[in-house]
Amino acid sequence: MSKNAISNSVIRRLPRYYRFLGELENNDYIRISSRELAEKMGLTASQIRQDFNCFGEFGQQGYGYNVSELRTEIGKILGLDSLKPMILLGAGNLGSAIAAHLDFKNRGFELIGIFDANKSLVGKEIGELRVTDIEELEDFCKERSPEAAILCIPKDAAVTEAEILISYGIKAFWNFTHYDLKMAYKDVIVENVHLGDSLTTLSYCINSLDKK
Ligand code: NAI
Repeated sequence: MSKNAISNSVIRRLPRYYRFLGELENNDYIRISSRELAEKMGLTASQIRQDFNCFGEFGQQGYGYNVSELRTEIGKILGLDSLKPMILLGAGNLGSAIAAHLDFKNRGFELIGIFDANKSLVGKEIGELRVTDIEELEDFCKERSPEAAILCIPKDAAVTEAEILISYGIKAFWNFTHYDLKMAYKDVIVENVHLGDSLTTLSYCINSLDKK
């Protein structure tokens, strides 16, 4: 079955499967049954079988799944077998933490540049990179052709910079700002991350527990 035919909800579960299968590999698992995997992941065996059936004949009756093969296949679907060049805008609190602590290469990306408008941050070392002046963005993009950008800048700056980045050929954004990029640009790929929304969901869960 082609990638395009896999539903969005299955795709959303794939990173967790991938991470879990990696842990199993590290613990020397060769194969695992859908039942055992379901128990470990807090899912049902039928959910797992349904999900994995979407992208191939991996399980065998009475044999289970080959952990390594399955992980490789999920990795391919997630595009982790090629590194997409990525840049980050905003080397403040959030941007610095992301650049310093995230393992981009294991997630299908290579962080190749960090940009900020604040001259006092230019040259600052973050991980393996140094912060570059945002004024050098155009030349950098012409030379290195990044495909994706992380936005860790104020909302107003994101409005301006997103338009510029798209004109430089950026087609995907990992957006931490409160600017609704997808509304403004229908054709770009946007993955929004809002830690606040996640925290609000936690509040809701506690609240609904209290009412039981
Ligand atoms: P910060 O003020 O520490 O960092 C922002 C950085 O962006 C600064 O270094 C500033 O010089 C730089 N900047 C401003 N305009 C720029 C431009 N045009 N080009 C390049 N760099 C520019 O702010 P913080 O806390 O790191 O937050 C950054 C963004 O992330 C904000 O929009 C904030 O609302 C958002 N945020 C989102 C969260 C989420 O869960 N989605 C959580 C925390 C913050």
